[in-house]
Amino acid sequence: MNAADNSNDAGARDLTAAGVMDLAPVIPVVVLDDADAAVPLARALVAGGLRAIEVTLRTPAALEAIVRIAAEVPDAVVGAGTVVRPEDAERSAAAGARFLVSPGCTSRLQVAMAATGLPFLPGVATASEALALMEDGITAMKFFPAEAAGGIPYLKSIGGPLPRIRFCPTGGVGPGNAADYLALPNVGCVGGSWLTPADAVRAGDWDRVRKLAAEAGALPR
Ligand code: 3PG
Repeated sequence: MNAADNSNDAGARDLTAAGVMDLAPVIPVVVLDDADAAVPLARALVAGGLRAIEVTLRTPAALEAIVRIAAEVPDAVVGAGTVVRPEDAERSAAAGARFLVSPGCTSRLQVAMAATGLPFLPGVATASEALALMEDGITAMKFFPAEAAGGIPYLKSIGGPLPRIRFCPTGGVGPGNAADYLALPNVGCVGGSWLTPADAVRAGDWDRVRKLAAEAGALPR
């Protein structure tokens, strides 16, 4: 595994986990029931300035949505989220995902994600979980569930002993607190589902998604 970027195949791929976080201040966390919505949704997010898109593997449509975004929205960097089983990692890579995100991490899941050669953001909520990943050279992580696990005070505290870790806090992050998270030195970007409200996706209201994305994309960090 490449110590610097959470990828074991950095020579073959240009994107690192840190690079995924650098793409935009916010990674939209997307739940899609209908793969037909994937391409217009991704275009709206990209038009708003958000290139990294995490499609969660929570619905039967998710893998097909990743396939379509990868094929039809070249400016998007589509990733798979809710990677919870080792087999999810390879299936996501085969669908065209360019990064992987998990809500937590086990040794088997870490090995499976690393084996794809894709950059990945493994989820942590405690210092011990972060330390276990650091032992393998991983320094880019998702902090989940951010608000429930201690939020901004927790990230400030952990930044003392573990200043090298860059987090993507997700879970309870939204327009009201995203800027405060992004102001922390150990936050690379934040993630959240607020960019793609279920009713807007159902209605195909891509203009609303684009506007939400544009507001998020303009957040300073
Ligand atoms: C995730 O999978 O990262 C979270 O479910 C997103 O959390 P949110 O819905 O609170 O943004």
